[in-house]
Amino acid sequence: MHPIVEKTQLSPNVTRLVVTASRIAEIRRPGQFVIVRLGPGAERIPLTIADADPAAGTISLVIQAIGKSTEDLVALEVGGVIQDVAGPLGKPTELLESGHAVCVGGGVGTAVVYPIAQALHDRGVRVTSIIGGRSREWVIFEEELRRAGDVIVCTDDGSYGRHGFVTEALKDVCEAGGIDEVFAVGPVPMMRACSELTRPYGIRTTVSLNAIMVDGTGMCGGCRVSIDGRNQYACVDGPEFDGHQVDFKLLADRLTTYREFEQDALRRRHEELLRLAEARQLAEAH
Ligand code: NAD
Ligand code: FES
Repeated sequence: MHPIVEKTQLSPNVTRLVVTASRIAEIRRPGQFVIVRLGPGAERIPLTIADADPAAGTISLVIQAIGKSTEDLVALEVGGVIQDVAGPLGKPTELLESGHAVCVGGGVGTAVVYPIAQALHDRGVRVTSIIGGRSREWVIFEEELRRAGDVIVCTDDGSYGRHGFVTEALKDVCEAGGIDEVFAVGPVPMMRACSELTRPYGIRTTVSLNAIMVDGTGMCGGCRVSIDGRNQYACVDGPEFDGHQVDFKLLADRLTTYREFEQDALRRRHEELLRLAEARQLAEAH
């Protein structure tokens, strides 16, 4: 059992949970993730370890509430428990030894790029972060990333920072030159656009693939991705891969496979919550 010790709302549908998981907090490395299961029979949810505090025995998980399972998870309050937290899983990030890295975070993907930026900064690499959100309230981890280097904030509507997508700022940074590697994490179209942008500059670009995961051990095949024409499994071979070799179309197609099922589960959850609220109102009226 893993108690929740802290809960913070980061943006309208993104929540940070600090969860007790002492063994994972001690050994996790940047780029790794856990698979959590709320209780018996619940769906398994892969989540990047955004941060860890080995002394306190806690890890930070950042959750975007977009389906039934993630809504159930963020409905937990401090003192609530998550039954299973398995990990750390996946290969740790291959970190540069020196030079200049650009860490690009799109929306909730910024939480995934943050531990990479932090680790690069700790070993003396110059870090420039470019982070984006739909508008001001969707920008996350700005303060934390400023402790690791320069930060360029972009918003789609221009309500904060630079107006436009993160790719527009990335293009200017690439033009300026002197970049050794780009790490890009966010929605699939954003990671694809970042990879296409850096290709002509010959800048190594690492992306973190949010493939559908079930067991997280390379056995079920759910997280299959195609890298340079070869099948790989994001849970054991990744989740980070060379963005110039990823088949992003296959990834996008596979991510839509369960969309109808997820929407149906979410609709049923909302109907159930409505029924409960009505029953409570009726009980209070009597
Ligand atoms: P979003 O749609 O609000 O986009 C966030 C930012 O990404 C935008 O502000 C923009 O700067 C950039 N962006 C979006 N589309 C772009 C495009 N076509 N070209 C260039 N830049 C673009 O993102 P969100 O709602 O916070 O994130 C949701 C998505 O992120 C989901 O699809 C989820 O699966 C994915 N995700 C990915 C990872 C991962 O590890 N790769 C982790 C968590 C979530
Ligand atoms: Fe099953 Fe990767 S999650 S093979």
